[in-house]
Amino acid sequence: MRTDTPQTIYLKDYKPYPFTIKSLNMNFDIHDGYTVVTAKSFYERDNENAKEIFLNGEDLELLSISIDGQEVQDYKKDDVSIRIPCSSDSFELGIKTKIYPEKNTRLEGLYNSGGTYCTQCEAEGFRRITYYPDRPDVLTTFTVRVEADKAYPVLLSNGNRIDGGEVDGNRHFTVWEDPFPKPCYLFALVAGDLTHIQDQFVTESGREVDLYIYVRHGDETQCDHAMDSLKRSMKWDEEVYGLEYELDIFNIVAVSDFNMGAMENTSLNIFNTALVLAQQETATDTDFMRVEGVIAHEYFHNWSGNRVTCRDWFQLSLKEGLTVFRDQEFSADTHSHEVQRIDDVAHLRRFQFSEDAGALAHPVRPDNYIEINNFYTMTIYEKGAEVIRMMRTILGKENYRKGTDLYFERHDGQAVTCEDFVKALEDASGEDLTQFRLWYEQAGTPEVTFAGEYNLAENTYTATFSQIIPDTPNQTNKKPMVIPISIGLLDKEGEDLIGTKVLMLTQSEQSFTFDNIQQKPVPSILRGFSAPVRLKTDLTKDDYTFLRTHDVYDGFNRWEAGQTLVSKVILDALDASEGGAKVEIPQGFIDGYAGIFEDALKDGADKALLARAMSIPSVSALIQECNLADPERIDNVREKVLASIKRTHKPLLERIYKNNELNGSFQITADAMAQRALRNTVISLLTATHGTGCAKLAKQHYDNADNMTDRVAALSSLASNKNEERASAFADFYDRFNEYQLVIDKWFALQASSGLPDTVEHLKRLREHKDFNIKNPNRVRSLYSAFAMNNPVRFHAADGSGYAFVRDGIIELNAINPQIAARLLTPMREWRRFSEDRQVLIKQALSDILEIKDIAPDVYEIARKSLEA
Ligand code: TRP
Ligand code: ZN
Repeated sequence: MRTDTPQTIYLKDYKPYPFTIKSLNMNFDIHDGYTVVTAKSFYERDNENAKEIFLNGEDLELLSISIDGQEVQDYKKDDVSIRIPCSSDSFELGIKTKIYPEKNTRLEGLYNSGGTYCTQCEAEGFRRITYYPDRPDVLTTFTVRVEADKAYPVLLSNGNRIDGGEVDGNRHFTVWEDPFPKPCYLFALVAGDLTHIQDQFVTESGREVDLYIYVRHGDETQCDHAMDSLKRSMKWDEEVYGLEYELDIFNIVAVSDFNMGAMENTSLNIFNTALVLAQQETATDTDFMRVEGVIAHEYFHNWSGNRVTCRDWFQLSLKEGLTVFRDQEFSADTHSHEVQRIDDVAHLRRFQFSEDAGALAHPVRPDNYIEINNFYTMTIYEKGAEVIRMMRTILGKENYRKGTDLYFERHDGQAVTCEDFVKALEDASGEDLTQFRLWYEQAGTPEVTFAGEYNLAENTYTATFSQIIPDTPNQTNKKPMVIPISIGLLDKEGEDLIGTKVLMLTQSEQSFTFDNIQQKPVPSILRGFSAPVRLKTDLTKDDYTFLRTHDVYDGFNRWEAGQTLVSKVILDALDASEGGAKVEIPQGFIDGYAGIFEDALKDGADKALLARAMSIPSVSALIQECNLADPERIDNVREKVLASIKRTHKPLLERIYKNNELNGSFQITADAMAQRALRNTVISLLTATHGTGCAKLAKQHYDNADNMTDRVAALSSLASNKNEERASAFADFYDRFNEYQLVIDKWFALQASSGLPDTVEHLKRLREHKDFNIKNPNRVRSLYSAFAMNNPVRFHAADGSGYAFVRDGIIELNAINPQIAARLLTPMREWRRFSEDRQVLIKQALSDILEIKDIAPDVYEIARKSLEA
């Protein structure tokens, strides 16, 4: 157990750094086993009261410090910082450190991934490279020299390559200069034996930008989709935001060991291979979409993040929320707005709403943290994006664009706050966003309640809304927020009587009256999910059934109506079977699916939307709707629904399956993906009962597959099937793809999501498999996270075996990679949502974790706060 409590950092303590750094010159001398880093920086004192230079530094071997060439001895050093007396107003600070990249398992700072040296400096990795003011508001121009053995032919850093050449002893070097001042979290370096693909993009104003993607030899055939996505992102940012790239080179490097998805370092983005490589045989359509989205995300950071960066880490959503919003819109423009919105909202609800309801709920702009790595959260990213989206709704597209123009122009080259962004939108549009700012300050998902009243005599319809912002840890008695609510009113024929109107809910309770409504309408509320709230309505199942068919004006709400309906049916059946009564699913409801299945057979059907309309909410999604959830019972009822659908509609489903076979060459067009999505949703229904026939059909689907999307669909069904087809398909999959790390990740993850009762025992054996490697975050995610996040039934097994398995993984990882260890705690933060017996077991696992002798602050913060709340 930890005796010292890790320190909390507060927003209210923010003070500007008392020095300006004019420029920074670095030299990296890379050798087998160690690297020597020399940093020379030119300081100017802005605040004459500053009598010492404070620098961050962790796990560094300090070789020397000098000021204006004179060795300094009287510095004060501890484990995380150094303080150097300072007596002049401008001086050159020289620091020499020795670091050990090969031993770096945290994957922060400079480390080695499969023979390639690379860096990860966000948020606080630079302090593991040299002593430096490691904070985002200290900006300077970097010149970087990299020297290594010629066994590492590729030597890269940020900006333009201005020099290079040979060095004695079979070594060589390059020198890079980044003309734009940047904070050190955007610094990057790569040294490795890599191959590349190359392309070019000509910007609107005629600049020729050379584009490179660097990968391991042999992987270059899997980069075309990433390159294509990059060029389309560059074009989109010019067209939609008027933002151009202003350097001559843009590099992407893919590495296998990476804590997150990717990193936006200026002109040298470093990516997890999982978000670059994509080809027909090894990547699913979802993978293709993610590659495109993350390439866009990192590229968009060039403006929203790099040219305009964050003053401090409390402002993280300034860059992340805005950039997520931008990448969501890019993907929507590229494919389908409705489908994109459905997928984004499903994701938001499942992960962000649960975060907002749990022990680690925090505002979009938090005001304290222990470990900043823990604040790269769904709230900062996804809720942050919703906040930007709402402001665009309030301002309208044109004024929003005026606002972002002003923001980028006003703050180019600066480190700013969320407030600065909102202010720019206000100044450009004339809109008052005072009350809206509460979205940055108040945590928790607002609960909006709706009731409608039709007045026949007056021909009016009154919509009454109320809002409650739930208490969250350390935040109570919250104020009402500005909630834009998009609404339509449908008459009996399905005619929309008002078009889509946006109502601004600003008070605790508020009514809006519509005139000239000739008959009692069915309201379609929160179209396009116009605000990230939980909505409660007085609509009946009949209303939802009606909307599921007739709300053609808003694909999101049409889908939403169907999902609300099936959730209600499942939750009702769950209640009714409490205490052991038989689970009954109303046949009328099951029959209603015929309409959707018949639609899928029509010409011109929107297959992507229909695939989503046919999908039954996951157990994880349903858990969000329950108090004291018992995942096993939820799963049981859900399985009954699937079985009834299959039994009732088998012939229709088989026709859809046959009609949607894709012949001809593989394509990743929206149409082809939609067709695969539809067909694979159907196969999941046809194999839902996991019997002998299901196994045969799934195996046949697997054997006929010519792409990874279909293979994964078949294997997910087989994963929970006891028949021998399961073993043979998984064995084939392994044999066929064991050269591909990213596919072996899928092989682990599919087994980790199996519903079979012996899953935990099986995973313990997989933990010992020769391909398992606890040091590789993708592999850890494929085993532990896939299990903890995607297998609620087995993770929450009543005997506690699932919790114990993940707890042991966290304890092991604490010493290896605390950032990843802390992430694995995510599903345990929500213990209050589960049945009491489970609560006891989860709390026990959290207490066990808090007993770790050298518990990392990352892990401590999450475990401690989870138990406290
Ligand atoms: N800024 C990165 C992004 O959103 C994410 C990031 C933050 C990250 N910290 C990281 C990536 C650590 C890798 C490792 O695009
Ligand atoms: Zn980002």
